[in-house]
Amino acid sequence: MVSIARNFETLFGRKPEVISEAPGRVNLIGEHIDYSEGFVLPFAIADRTYAAIASRSDGLVRIASVQRKENIFSIDIKDVQPGSKGDWEKYVLGVIWSLDIGTGVDILVDGNVPAGAGLSSSAALECSVAVGLNELFGLNKSLEDLARATQKAENIYAGVPCGIMDQSVSLMGKKGSALLLDCRDLSTESIPFSVADAGLELLIIDTQAHHALVDGGYAERRASCESVATTLKIPSMRNLTLDVLDSHRNEITDIEYIRARHAVTEIARVLEAVKALRASDFISLGNLINASHISLRDDYQVSCPELDAAVKASLSAGALGARMVGGGFGGSAIALVKAENVAKTREAVSAAFESRGFKKPRFFTSLPSAGASASRVS
Ligand code: GLA
Repeated sequence: MVSIARNFETLFGRKPEVISEAPGRVNLIGEHIDYSEGFVLPFAIADRTYAAIASRSDGLVRIASVQRKENIFSIDIKDVQPGSKGDWEKYVLGVIWSLDIGTGVDILVDGNVPAGAGLSSSAALECSVAVGLNELFGLNKSLEDLARATQKAENIYAGVPCGIMDQSVSLMGKKGSALLLDCRDLSTESIPFSVADAGLELLIIDTQAHHALVDGGYAERRASCESVATTLKIPSMRNLTLDVLDSHRNEITDIEYIRARHAVTEIARVLEAVKALRASDFISLGNLINASHISLRDDYQVSCPELDAAVKASLSAGALGARMVGGGFGGSAIALVKAENVAKTREAVSAAFESRGFKKPRFFTSLPSAGASASRVS
């Protein structure tokens, strides 16, 4: 990107050495099961974060963002430790820390992934910096290593107990395909997702409702799954079936039971969705997306009135399937819609939001796009 290089030069008075980029994501299906070692089926969206980076010899780390009016945040590399100062800069510092970078750097970021919409703007930021540092310092880290490092940055440095889906797809996404990711070992398979050829569009509906993973709701869901695994003496929800879960019904709480039921059924739905996609059976895919939403709403209880209204209005306008995506408690929903029904669906959602007194929703769409990349500035 020419403009980020130019902005970097204006701000820091020299040229960047590396320019990198990483996308946000949507998840077709497989929600709240990455930390339960499940399968997920996200894709990288076209919106991305760019980073321009150059090393410094004085041990200073300077970070700025075009969106934050290029105020420069400074810290000594020796002080880049969890608990350090920093607001959004912690996502960048966390990556510097988890990759064990010992040299100072200047970093400018510029992005267009909508923040707070549940489209993983934080993973896009972390991954753009991670691939950039990997290139700049010749770290030769694999994409799996970078996914683990960026997740660690978010967990420990930013204090958000997320799983590994968002960072993995931001790094490994492929144009034209959804990424079947096995969160147990990070192995992947590209599953072609040719919505446009099928006359369909994946509409992304940002409810503009509050989305705060740092709040206790996410951690609490994660803890319930871990607690069921401990009681049942299994590594994770991946090792569970509904029959086994039912046979241990009396050993766990009612809440734990429904949380585990979501995890088990959602993992199965992902594999069914892959079969449907391979057969270009978008009707079945739509049904699975709907079943996922019901499970997230009723068993996992991570939806909210705005997300439910977006789903209901999309379905009543003829969507093949619709569901909340990401951590929940706000953020975005997706709707699989016939191309000719997109306008009608947007109107139906907007009207439903207006009649309920909700904020005005925003609409996006995206085809599956490429994952992160970095290149040296010549
Ligand atoms: C957030 C987290 C992910 C994942 C989703 C829910 O996006 O960052 O790791 O757990 O929620 O599927």
